[in-house]
Amino acid sequence: MHDFLKDPRFAGIERFDKKVWLSSPTMHGDEQRWVDEAIQTNWVSTVGANIDAVENEMAEYLGCKYAVGLSCGTASLHLATKLAGEKLYGQAKPNQGTLAGHKVFASDVTFDASINPIAYEDGEAVFIDTETDTWNMSPEALEKAFELYPDVKLIVIAHLYGTPGKIDEIRKIADAHGALIVEDAAESLGATYKGVQTGTFGDFNAISFIVTKILTSKTDKTEPLLAA
Ligand SMILES: Cc1ncc(COP(=O)(O)O)c(C=O)c1O
Repeated sequence: MHDFLKDPRFAGIERFDKKVWLSSPTMHGDEQRWVDEAIQTNWVSTVGANIDAVENEMAEYLGCKYAVGLSCGTASLHLATKLAGEKLYGQAKPNQGTLAGHKVFASDVTFDASINPIAYEDGEAVFIDTETDTWNMSPEALEKAFELYPDVKLIVIAHLYGTPGKIDEIRKIADAHGALIVEDAAESLGATYKGVQTGTFGDFNAISFIVTKILTSKTDKTEPLLAA
């Protein structure tokens, strides 16, 4: 395995003395009140006033038309990928995913939840190299991939560590090839690209509120799938 601490590109970076823990969920103040209220009013559910409020506030904050609360970012990405496949290739046959027989371009450095939905939908991921300036999908590599596989119609991109990828260039390439984009903004809530919120550039977009993310919530939580 590559020893990053010996890599000259990371010279001067040292290990932390102490382990840095993930943020642990806390329940007090308003969070406590809303949890109590949900239990007392019997709205521990996938619908209800609190879910509506999260969906509406997120859509307004991001500047997209709709936000739909799901169980987790992974579920959001699965639904996004399924819907993209359905839009491109029509409804799936019984026991088949919407991407059956199709290749999908995807970021090669990301959490596996960006990619797994391609397999859940019976597609085949073709990984696109990452560039060093954003640590996200390289537009040049994407362009080259379209030369090799001109029939591809779906791109799954992730913005890692709160840093947006080069959306304009990627969108231009996607449009030139009639391809849709699933934007995985799980890690970039609040990050903007040229003044516009990430999570609104794809044809289908997902964000996450798990404990490692910018806004955290309890695990098994409500996470928006966003349709710009
Ligand atoms: C880039 C990326 N995509 C998707 C996910 C999946 O989100 P969740 O854990 O809420 O399912 C994560 C993090 O967990 C992530 O970092």
